[in-house]
Amino acid sequence: MNNTATDYSARRQQLMAQMQAQGGGVAVIPTAREWIRNNDNHFPFRHDSYFYYLSGFTEPEAVLVLVATADKQESILFCREKNPEREIWDGFRFGPEAAAKEFAFDAAYPIDILADKLPELLSDARTLFYSTAQEPHIDSQVQQSLQAVRDKGRSGIRAPGITVDVRALVDEMRLFKDATEIALMQRAASISAEAHARAMRSARPGKFEYELEAELLYEFRRNGAQAPAYGSIVATGANACILHYQSNQAQIKDGDLVLIDAGCEFDSYASDITRTFPANGKFSPAQKRLYEIVLASQQAALECARPGSVYMNGHHAAVRVLTQGMLDTGLLDKNKVGSLDDAIASAAFRQFYMHGTGHWLGLDVHDVGDYREALKTGDTRAYRQLQPGMVITIEPGIYVRPAEGVPEEYWNTGIRIEDDILITADGHLNLSRDTPKTVAEIEAEMRAR
Ligand code: GLY
Ligand code: MN
Ligand code: MN
Repeated sequence: MNNTATDYSARRQQLMAQMQAQGGGVAVIPTAREWIRNNDNHFPFRHDSYFYYLSGFTEPEAVLVLVATADKQESILFCREKNPEREIWDGFRFGPEAAAKEFAFDAAYPIDILADKLPELLSDARTLFYSTAQEPHIDSQVQQSLQAVRDKGRSGIRAPGITVDVRALVDEMRLFKDATEIALMQRAASISAEAHARAMRSARPGKFEYELEAELLYEFRRNGAQAPAYGSIVATGANACILHYQSNQAQIKDGDLVLIDAGCEFDSYASDITRTFPANGKFSPAQKRLYEIVLASQQAALECARPGSVYMNGHHAAVRVLTQGMLDTGLLDKNKVGSLDDAIASAAFRQFYMHGTGHWLGLDVHDVGDYREALKTGDTRAYRQLQPGMVITIEPGIYVRPAEGVPEEYWNTGIRIEDDILITADGHLNLSRDTPKTVAEIEAEMRAR
């Protein structure tokens, strides 16, 4: 199911073709830093997604350099050397020679000589394709290398005169997922779907939020997912109204709703699913009323998930259904906010729905890619149209904090429903479709406890 060296090599060629179309130059793409947690302890290393997308290489301390001139494409890896002593402590390292072979690079060198090699590679390059202010330790090496090239100016050698943000070129490639990426994202979503169902089945009043988090993690790892794609949110009762709730420490009370926003990362690809269910297995009438509104709003947004539909259509459709629901339930007072159109125009709905309806999903949970069309002179940048191969989340919600004029039966209720949606040629495929979602499905899953 994984991408092969040939796939990564094809991506590098595609990027270098774009560089050639812009007159050629040199791209410098580092992987992520290792972060010290304390003393000699590091946080778990996660490679940079751009670097990984173009290389498949997951070791730290590595930099990809692409050289693209009119008649030449060359991809070079700088990586750690083999080190028998360190490999006893930290594990296997490819070393440049094996890495070049295994990952189909034209050449590979020890990372320690990057500073010496870069000035040579940048000499007479027209454009430097590099994203500044992302990896400061590489920024300084790039700056020193540019200076070293300028120092040779009297011998007729020129430093790149233009800098282009290489990430912007890769963003557009990453936005469209190929068949292998889609298979990996389906696997990630399927594991997460099973994890959500497991958490539902294990939920009981009296348990703690972290016990449900443990069920999620168990299901992720049991299936070979490397890590959660982001900090899992297990929020019960009033905590569900905290959008980025992370502590997961509270005890679950009878009558609470449980909002779980959690997804695993499988072979570097993210899933991002939210479900909301009653801790005791049965929605109260008030909970059910709000839940059905959020569900209907997600359905409205899903109907916009097809090629040619403008990205924001889904949000507008969801907001319309949510706002109507807020008026019907008295969350919004018609006498104060006016008609449906008035309540949308004045953004009165934001009291209970204050976030967007989704985002791109891929190697990163909030994945890269422009949400708007390229800027044309004089235009405002319109939202772009959905196209096959894009993956989005659709995640409407309602969050009711206690407030004067808001019916008390809804206080401290937070509901969000989130799925991972692949745009296909004729519509969409819900990658997280196996996660129980309707009231009937959730109550049935919980009866199986
Ligand atoms: N879990 C992050 C999000 O839903 O955007
Ligand atoms: Mn999301
Ligand atoms: Mn989420």
